[in-house]
Amino acid sequence: MMIKKQKSEKSLIRINKYLANAGVASRRKVDEMVQEGKVRINGKVITSLGTKIDPGTDKVFVDGRQIVILDEPVYIVLNKPKDAITTASDERGRSTVMDYIRIKHRVYPVGRLDRNTTGVLLLTNDGEFANRLMHPKFEVKKAYKVTLDKALTREDADKLSHGVRLSEGMTKSAKIHFLPGEKNKVVGIIIHEGRNRQVHRMFEAFGYEVYKLDRVGYADITYEGLPRGRWRYLTKTEVRKLYEIAGMDKTAATIQY
Ligand code: URA
Repeated sequence: MMIKKQKSEKSLIRINKYLANAGVASRRKVDEMVQEGKVRINGKVITSLGTKIDPGTDKVFVDGRQIVILDEPVYIVLNKPKDAITTASDERGRSTVMDYIRIKHRVYPVGRLDRNTTGVLLLTNDGEFANRLMHPKFEVKKAYKVTLDKALTREDADKLSHGVRLSEGMTKSAKIHFLPGEKNKVVGIIIHEGRNRQVHRMFEAFGYEVYKLDRVGYADITYEGLPRGRWRYLTKTEVRKLYEIAGMDKTAATIQY
């Protein structure tokens, strides 16, 4: 009935498994409910225990109540390589960050990095979490290592840290770190905003060219131990910390992987 012939068997799931995963009841109990005629799929009562459904398209009701399984939330950090676009898909067929993450969940980047910026990029399918982290109100800390065309002067570093006038207004204060042994051409900057090409524009405002930009940290998340182009799931502790930063109830963070 609901099983469309052209559907690959892979996307189908037995009704008792689906309902048990949704928390309706145990598989055995669900089988009883099916036999009792309590389950409807796309408007039709089913009583066959072997019935399979496609969770993406079939509508399942138990006792008149629709049962929907929400995708379990996943949280990922990618060490973004150069030349990858931060988008879920690119209609021009260019390499995207998604090419590096082959999982069954549809995850989305939390904010964006320029094509040639490398480093820490979070991805998730938890929409509220992503939106809050991107919201300026939560002032999430972003740390970058910046390679410049020439040495940064102390005077310019001081001005940069106090805020820079960009076309849309002043940037908030930032922290600049001179890195030992780099002749002041490679510096660290920590900002709490995420405006478009912000770091580039901040340095350009003082006549510097940014040769390389690497995001070394997002909140407390770094790419330590992750080679470029590799990713890992965030740990429960990391997700809870981010929930707190985003003003969400950390005890509500559910991580099943
Ligand atoms: N600032 C930039 O200029 N580019 C990025 O990718 C991130 C921050």
